[in-house]
Amino acid sequence: MNKNDIEQIIRKEIVEAVMKTQDFLIIGNWKMQKTKQEVKSFLKDIASHDFGQKNKIIIAPPSPYLYLFEEKLRYSNVLYGAQNFYPKESGAFTGEVSVDMLQDFGCKYAIVGHSERRTIFGECNEFISKKVRILIQKNITPILCIGENLNQRKNEDYKHFLATQISEGLQRISQDDVSKVIIAYEPIWAIGTGETASPSQVEELHIYLRKFLVERYGSNIGKDIPLLYGGSVKPSNVKELALAQSVSGFLIGGASLDAKSFIEINNILN
Ligand code: 13P
Repeated sequence: MNKNDIEQIIRKEIVEAVMKTQDFLIIGNWKMQKTKQEVKSFLKDIASHDFGQKNKIIIAPPSPYLYLFEEKLRYSNVLYGAQNFYPKESGAFTGEVSVDMLQDFGCKYAIVGHSERRTIFGECNEFISKKVRILIQKNITPILCIGENLNQRKNEDYKHFLATQISEGLQRISQDDVSKVIIAYEPIWAIGTGETASPSQVEELHIYLRKFLVERYGSNIGKDIPLLYGGSVKPSNVKELALAQSVSGFLIGGASLDAKSFIEINNILN
């Protein structure tokens, strides 16, 4: 047996040990996709599927379909959340959805600070921090997205930029409430491009973010905040990415649209 074979065997054992013991958050972000019929058919496929007890499965559909999730997932352990809302209780905000409305439909999670909302809709850290605060007040878990674009990536300072997205996004909540937040690192250059950050890039960044969280919020809180990776995650690369240190789960766009590939991702991480 040569050195390569031995390395392969050791790697396989490490992979199996990690997959067996670590639980992952698997979150699907559908963005602005699917028809009512497609949503119904997806829900039919997953409502009766046994995802097991280890991983937590969450889907964020477009808001008009939340009522179907409430109806069809009543007896399933799949949870769901919102992609967006407006950070006010109620009022004259034409076209907007409030957090109370999300709660009415059973949402337990909401995505905030996604790069598409930051770049297309001009949401800044200040506004995002208001969204985080109202979610915490209403007992909905914020999934705070951060991520750099390709130009920023070329600049060594991009790590500091990401840390600022976290600290400014969380500036309106107390230290204790920080423990209720999920953070998702989604490099913009890897979203919907098919180009994934390599496991070593993800690991390097997640270790940096973990260190930042521990320093900023204390080790009790900082060490346990879930840190997800997102950006072209699919069945073929999720295993390697899951092995990167400090990866607590995944925020998945394209590959979460198809029930088969979404289920496959969970199977791989089980
Ligand atoms: P893709 O998985 O399609 O790259 O999307 C990632 C994402 O933006 C999830 O929020």
